[in-house]
Amino acid sequence: MILGVETSCDDTCAAVLSHGGEVLSNVIASQGLLHDRYGGVVPEVASRRHLEVIDAVIDDALERAGARLEDIRIVAVTRGPGLIGALLVGLSAAKGLAAALGLPLVPVDHLHGHVTAALLGRDPAEMPYLCLVASGGHTFLARVDEPARYTVLGRTLDDAAGEAFDKGARLLGLPYPGGPAVDALAREGDPEAFAFPRSQPGEGLDLSFSGLKTSLLYRVRDLGPVEADRRRADLAASYERAIVEALVTRVRQALEREALTSLALGGGVAANSELRRRMAVECERLGVALSAPGLDLCVDNAAMIAGAARFLEPLHYPAYLDLDAAARPLAPA
Ligand code: KG4
Ligand code: ZN
Repeated sequence: MILGVETSCDDTCAAVLSHGGEVLSNVIASQGLLHDRYGGVVPEVASRRHLEVIDAVIDDALERAGARLEDIRIVAVTRGPGLIGALLVGLSAAKGLAAALGLPLVPVDHLHGHVTAALLGRDPAEMPYLCLVASGGHTFLARVDEPARYTVLGRTLDDAAGEAFDKGARLLGLPYPGGPAVDALAREGDPEAFAFPRSQPGEGLDLSFSGLKTSLLYRVRDLGPVEADRRRADLAASYERAIVEALVTRVRQALEREALTSLALGGGVAANSELRRRMAVECERLGVALSAPGLDLCVDNAAMIAGAARFLEPLHYPAYLDLDAAARPLAPA
């Protein structure tokens, strides 16, 4: 069994995976409410909470998997990118466990975890595939020809799609994290009520969401507080439509350019009902197989970290002791 640990942002996660890829447990202790009052994740608060709960979360993952520490053969942990203090808590816990138990350790690129999450679960993506990862911290398109590596085809030049949802929600007076709130409110609104820009920067497959957010800011300001409040559902629906259309367009272009017939979704934004619906329609039209893993595999989680570790070389004691966390994206393998 592989024990996965993930603490790159504001969720403390541990999971147990069988070597065949069966998710035996996938515990996600969310700090969402803790950061709600600040309207976003406060790095220092996140690190301290990770430190408080990491042992209990690992115990919980073992218990739910019906496993004991002695059953673990490999420890896998997120090395980056993410919040440096948050990452260090998971990395130190993983190093400590590996050293104490005499186990190898696999440092995992968080983004590689998201990209290969689609290989777990009941409906694994068929190789080669295009993966759209859209979360609060990152948004990119990757080509996956073999599970040990991936090629980034395009990425956001500014805000991540989830960040666009979160910032938009804030402008609309909705709670953090904003994605689920916008998703719910948008269902009561008219997605064509307001025209928001669908930015497609450059000739390639990059994305941009900062102009969209500014456009919402101006629209809310122009409407004034009373009218903006009255038309909140229409604003949410139109704003959501603009984000989803930007993503769908780039995915379609990537599938065509790369001649791929398999698409996987990842990242917290993959929970968005409009995105799922539109991607399903588009894939049906293009004859593309769509793999949308369950939500617990899309959001930040440790099962995807343990999953990616299956394809990587483990480090043995004492080689991993001086391993550092990396705040910035690691170069794809
Ligand atoms: O992958 P994730 O859990 O953490 C990061 O690595 O960021 O993604 C969280 C992001 C947040 O920005 C949240 O607002 C967004 O995913 N999100 C959604 C929905 N559920 C979560 N965005 C749109 N619609 C949703 N239903
Ligand atoms: Zn993530």
